[in-house]
Amino acid sequence: MIIVTGATGQLGGLIVERLLERMPADQIGVSVRDPDKAGHLRARGVRVRRGDFGYPAALARAFEGATQVLIVSGPADPAPHRAAIEAARAAGAGRIIYTSHMGANRHSLFAATRAHAETERDLQASGVPFTSLRDGFHATSAIGILRPALQTGELILPEDGPVSWTAHADLAEAAAIALTEDGRLDGITPALTGPEALDFAGIAEIAAELTGRRITRVTVSDDAWKDHLIAQGTPEQFASFALEIFTASRRGEFAAVDPALKQLLGREPTHFRDVLAATLPR
Ligand SMILES: NC(=O)c1ccc[n+]([C@@H]2O[C@H](COP(=O)([O-])OP(=O)(O)OC[C@H]3O[C@@H](n4cnc5c(N)ncnc54)[C@H](OP(=O)(O)O)[C@@H]3O)[C@@H](O)[C@H]2O)c1
Repeated sequence: MIIVTGATGQLGGLIVERLLERMPADQIGVSVRDPDKAGHLRARGVRVRRGDFGYPAALARAFEGATQVLIVSGPADPAPHRAAIEAARAAGAGRIIYTSHMGANRHSLFAATRAHAETERDLQASGVPFTSLRDGFHATSAIGILRPALQTGELILPEDGPVSWTAHADLAEAAAIALTEDGRLDGITPALTGPEALDFAGIAEIAAELTGRRITRVTVSDDAWKDHLIAQGTPEQFASFALEIFTASRRGEFAAVDPALKQLLGREPTHFRDVLAATLPR
């Protein structure tokens, strides 16, 4: 049985959908924090059990009988993922698949990519065969940052750098291939990225073309942007975390466009323009 965590989230939910196309539902289990949110999967024959990385006893039950466990990363903190890796090992899983991040590196300027690097070390230390999917930066993250500008016409951000924004749907398909096709993806994968790298000036142009509205990219200092977020009620810790996306991207940490995802999917990965177009009101 393949167990997927985070199946009530965006990426985990799509991974389960792709698995359901590839294998019988009774060979799929999900480990979710709130089973009530997974009733639609239970109705289709998927095993639904409660599992939270913070509660190892429940996790043991959620991972029971697992041949493989796919751990969808949660918070940017290695501790909960270490608990999930240990639970998968204790359950006797023959392989662990983890959703890491392109540029995972202990010296990254972005806290999330530093945390993923630590989890990759935990995977290596577990002794269990593993695949660490180095997922490209989610295109939805850029869309979340862009969204206020769709109303105001001004995209006010610190200096950034190009990022190979990647569609959830493509990353979910890659995860399903990793789980079901032996030997396609083992160990730490290359960066699984979208087909082009775009900075926020490029994103503003695409958004303007799609909406027919003028959207101007305005660059402000790191401190001014962070102070603005805090003044709007964003907790200081989250404002610092968000700022690191910009400091890391302008150092080029997420700029790589790698052919690995295209080769794996056998088609061009989805362009940012198409992900954005699908989210805009018609
Ligand atoms: N590559 C990137 O650019 C990028 C960008 C943003 C985030 N991420 C990472 O990618 C992950 C998946 O993205 P997504 O869009 O699917 O995010 P999402 O919709 O927020 O899903 C995250 C999932 O993790 C689960 N989770 C959180 N804490 C947990 C815990 N302590 N124990 C067990 N499960 C826990 C959540 O459970 P509930 O459903 O109960 O909330 C949710 O299902 C994120 O969680 C984050 O680590 C990557």
